[in-house]
Amino acid sequence: MINTVTLTTSPSRELGTISPMIYGQFIEHFHRVVYGGIYLPGHKLANEQGFRMDVVEALRRIHVPIVRWPGGCFVSAYHWKDGVGLSREPVFDKAWRVEDSNAFGTDEFIAWCRLVGCEPYICTNAGTGSAEEMSDWLEYCNLPSQGKWARQRIHNGIKEPFKVKYWSIGNENWGSHELGAKSAEEWAALVRESAKMMLRVDPSIELLAASILDLNWNTRLLQNAGQYLSWISIHNYWDVANNDGVLSGYEACIARSLGPEQDITRARHLLGSLGFLGRVRVAFDEWNLRGWHHPHFMDRVTYDILGFRDRNDRNSSYTMADAVFSACFLNACIRNADLVGMANSSPAVNSRGLIYADEDGIVLRPTYHVFEMYTNYLGDTALSYQLSQNPEIALWDRDSLLRLPMLDMVATRNRTETALRIGIVNRSPEGEIMIDLESSAPEVRVYSVSGTSKDSFNDKECPGNVTVASCILPVVNGRLQVVLPPHSVSVLVELI
Ligand code: AHR
Repeated sequence: MINTVTLTTSPSRELGTISPMIYGQFIEHFHRVVYGGIYLPGHKLANEQGFRMDVVEALRRIHVPIVRWPGGCFVSAYHWKDGVGLSREPVFDKAWRVEDSNAFGTDEFIAWCRLVGCEPYICTNAGTGSAEEMSDWLEYCNLPSQGKWARQRIHNGIKEPFKVKYWSIGNENWGSHELGAKSAEEWAALVRESAKMMLRVDPSIELLAASILDLNWNTRLLQNAGQYLSWISIHNYWDVANNDGVLSGYEACIARSLGPEQDITRARHLLGSLGFLGRVRVAFDEWNLRGWHHPHFMDRVTYDILGFRDRNDRNSSYTMADAVFSACFLNACIRNADLVGMANSSPAVNSRGLIYADEDGIVLRPTYHVFEMYTNYLGDTALSYQLSQNPEIALWDRDSLLRLPMLDMVATRNRTETALRIGIVNRSPEGEIMIDLESSAPEVRVYSVSGTSKDSFNDKECPGNVTVASCILPVVNGRLQVVLPPHSVSVLVELI
């Protein structure tokens, strides 16, 4: 007999307002993310500015609120001045060891964000760059006309300032993989001086700084520069795969799906112990289940870089494991809506992204459909809830057998409505489960992504293998009963 769990929500107990920016995206100058992925001048799928309209339309359908650019590791040696103006020279990208044409620069990024309908978020070069270079970039973007760099923008044909609100100082500068990596002391001093210069150019911006879940790093950073920061930037990829490119299977991936909430709890403790809880928020401005495959980029060897990187784009690698994990990640952000105000899925297009794009068109991967459901059907306010039980499932992660709760959920509603909107994940690889919920609505619409197997994926030959299915269920005697299939993500919406 199928196990039944009773779900009770507490509409009067709000956990917080959900920032729409948790549904953000990231694009980096890496392999085919920008060039070929979103930018393909002269191609039939692109507009006259060179932007792929199939990708733009797919991103519009998931209401992308904010996009971070240009890196990633790429930004650690990127000089923005090379990427603006009428005559641009290609440069050697020392982060990824390839040539970058500089055809896609600040003006193109802003124009593309306007087309997608999202907020631009710029990450600055704090590796080989300087406080002055960062503040010049801000001057170029945000000042109406004062100064050399604002006038340069006008000279480039753009009269109105871009008004970029979100700026990050650096990317992963704590790591030895990063060009211009810093010690905690060096970092704190650079962030403080860069923040001062940037805020003098435009005091209305919100600043983020590269961080990590480490007490020493945050103590130095926040004690020296915390007064200037609105956010700390945290990254994680739970199935790393950078060098070997071997991706874990469903069970190992889902065994790690408690990781995002553990990171958030750690960030909460760090900020709390340093007195910054409520003053500085968390931006998970790069996250994905899968790390990006870029073997040997730190080694002194020559090899077929692009051949290796092509392996990132294989659609068969991104399955229901990615979809289920991504929903658990978003659920953790929603349950911690008071702290996590931004998250950028990394990257948006190609590599480990939501969308695969080649010269023939696009494929929407299973993760895309999780964003499609969450951005279209969940509410803006997180509510408290209770489950009568949450059965345990046992999953192998390498040699360890881990026990996890079968269900992972959020309860939400829109501030202007009474209808409940529930996001719920069944992590189990093979078991279904029944949810029993009290409801005053006559009917509930159920949206669901599950695939026919836990390893289902979409590809050019089978683009509709995993999609959003939907049905309407009646509420009988004030109760809704719905069966959640294995390896599924569902959204239930009361039809009032
Ligand atoms: O593998 C892609 C890289 O992952 C990004 O450039 C970097 O920020 C992260 O380590």
